[in-house]
Amino acid sequence: MLTQEQNERLTQVGPGTPMGVLMRRYWHPIAGSAQLNDDTPTREVRLLGEDLVLFRSSAGKLGLIEPSCAHRKANLSYGIPEPEGIRCPYHGWLYDESGQCIDQPSEPEGSRFKEKVKLKAYPVEELGGLIFTYMGPEPAPLLPRYDVLAWDGIKDAHSTVLPCNWLQCMENSLDPLHFQWLHRYWGGWTMNRTKSAAERDAWNAQVGARGAEHRKIGFEMTDYGVIKRRLVGDETEADDHWRVGHPILFPTILRVSHGLEFRVPIDDTHTLHLITNYRQREKGEEAQTEVPFVDRPLYDEAGLLIRDYIPAQDQVAWIIQGPVSDRTTERLGVTDVGIIMFRRMLEEQMNVVADGGDPLNTHRDPAENETIVLPCEYYMYPGYDEVGGPFKDAVPREPDVQAVLSGEGATRDEWEGIEARRRVWGIGPAREYK
Ligand code: FES
Ligand SMILES: [Fe+2]
Repeated sequence: MLTQEQNERLTQVGPGTPMGVLMRRYWHPIAGSAQLNDDTPTREVRLLGEDLVLFRSSAGKLGLIEPSCAHRKANLSYGIPEPEGIRCPYHGWLYDESGQCIDQPSEPEGSRFKEKVKLKAYPVEELGGLIFTYMGPEPAPLLPRYDVLAWDGIKDAHSTVLPCNWLQCMENSLDPLHFQWLHRYWGGWTMNRTKSAAERDAWNAQVGARGAEHRKIGFEMTDYGVIKRRLVGDETEADDHWRVGHPILFPTILRVSHGLEFRVPIDDTHTLHLITNYRQREKGEEAQTEVPFVDRPLYDEAGLLIRDYIPAQDQVAWIIQGPVSDRTTERLGVTDVGIIMFRRMLEEQMNVVADGGDPLNTHRDPAENETIVLPCEYYMYPGYDEVGGPFKDAVPREPDVQAVLSGEGATRDEWEGIEARRRVWGIGPAREYK
């Protein structure tokens, strides 16, 4: 349980708030590269409570600037891309990607007025088919080259805007137990009522392997965030769910299965859930020229929250906690030790920034940042022919925080006789394992 003040300190991200100041020390994805092209050269973006316009000039350069033209405030998302920047639709002032006004076509010849006109602008970089920005103080840290972003391979990405605060999304990632209930039990109840026999069987086989009863959960602090581990069903500490686990990349990213899930704070009550997935190229398969990117809907045709794939079920859970979960009346149990740990880390890192330091998981060494290879269970790493790759023989240390759970669970009749099948990620369509 938190006080109202503590809850606001952890959730509010606008300019000048402690969490907003911490969040401005990280690069955040704001769109897919494929979304900014000749047909759609501009895009309205809202990030950390600030409205902005993203544009791609006709020469291919990206800019992210404040939305309103300095002249008489027309929205530049209606502007015209030109080689040097974006031209306002109203009276033709032209801005480059630094926000500098470089042309005021109707001012008298020789006027230097334009030199005094500059819009706020933020740096933009592209990596792995995504467009990232950094809104903090200079010098900016490096854009982290996380493995699935940096590796050559086949990628896709999608995003959904959620009507809830970002912290609900991240607390879910520090809560391994939810797999057993949200995905396995509620997901199973939902899927078994609404899907075809083939889809039901595939679903049951998948969650049968991944969602068995949790007996122990553990969390280890690392220099990029937290690794979470779990003991499920009859598995032991030698199994990948415990031995390798998977990471939360501080403060807003989950690395799991074959992708990254970014929970980008739009403002205090909206989050951009942006997921990118990666697989190795098959032998002879052509290199990708563009990473496809789609906006996924939140609601189905009946107006209900979509819930028939795992990230959508997560989204449902986050949204039904309310726009900002009321942590003043929550009642945390033993299963929530990871959440308590994460809140402490956030508090610590807000203080690190307030004291003038670089917070956790900021990168400034280009050699270290070449490719940040992360541990992830049941993963086939490029360049290795065994599951686990560089983490194949990893032996974890004692977790910083752990909890023994009852191991109680619930079964559904539909699981009778369904063989639990594990999946291997990172190669082609997900493959079965053991
Ligand atoms: S409002 Fe943009 S040029 Fe006049
Ligand atoms: Fe989940």
